[in-house]
Amino acid sequence: MTATTPPPLAPDLTEGLKRLKMAAMRRLAPELLVTAKTQRWNPEEFLRTLVEAEITARDESNARTRLRQAAFPVTKTLEDFDVAASSIPAATFDYLSSLEWVRAAENVCMIGPAGTGKSHILVALGIAAVEAGHRVRYFPAAELVETLYRGLADNSVGKVIDILLRNDVVLVDELGFAPLDDTGAQLLFRFVAAAYERRSLGIGSHWPFESWGRFLPEHTTAVSMLDRLLHHCHTVVTDGDSYRMMQARARPPLRQASRKS
Ligand SMILES: Nc1ncnc2c1ncn2[C@@H]1O[C@H](COP(=O)(O)OP(=O)(O)O)[C@@H](O)[C@H]1O
Ligand SMILES: [Mg+2]
Repeated sequence: MTATTPPPLAPDLTEGLKRLKMAAMRRLAPELLVTAKTQRWNPEEFLRTLVEAEITARDESNARTRLRQAAFPVTKTLEDFDVAASSIPAATFDYLSSLEWVRAAENVCMIGPAGTGKSHILVALGIAAVEAGHRVRYFPAAELVETLYRGLADNSVGKVIDILLRNDVVLVDELGFAPLDDTGAQLLFRFVAAAYERRSLGIGSHWPFESWGRFLPEHTTAVSMLDRLLHHCHTVVTDGDSYRMMQARARPPLRQASRKS
């Protein structure tokens, strides 16, 4: 059977669908009209097919936009995470994957040494949340603090925080890599307090909670921040060998690997 080009849509319909921004409908309608006529679809079925196609296209385009806005530094998925090779209990992993904590505006803290999968899990949960229709934003902690600092300059910290909390989930990774000064710590506290019981935070840090004083200069700030953060929080401690190191050790020595050609 050779595919023939279906006749174009009437100009007024094309214009109307353009104006209504029904791009998928406009694209599919000519061919669907032919199919509907030859297969004697009932009118409702025709309309439903068009509406569903438009909805699917919109959902996909919205998900792409949310993914871009999330600013993930890498692409990591829950499927790619080897739970058995990590110290994370399977039940914990399944619970986090269910995104129930996002719907409940609860937090997740990933605590553990370098290379144990903290960022992988945070990004993978973020991507899963985007796919489930949530709005997500990823930040290395230093970048978040910088963003808040910029708000200080023009007295708009409150507004900056409001905009950040339009997201359902804000992921703050690498917390404690660099110590914060007093102002930075205060700003971060303001942000955590504003998110408390309203939005989900996902935190990644190599410092166990009792050592947060190492990067938060004021003891009271550290205590107040942890208080808000941990009230509704799923803490996951990752330990064991660095996955990066294990992979590096499993690789053949460089010279051997590049001898191939
Ligand atoms: N259990 C795992 N299964 C699959 N890949 C993993 C696992 N743990 C770590 N990785 C991979 O190892 C690398 C380091 O993990 P990462 O999440 O960046 O560590 P961390 O943030 O704890 O320093 C990443 O490429 C990550 O995808
Ligand atoms: Mg990391």
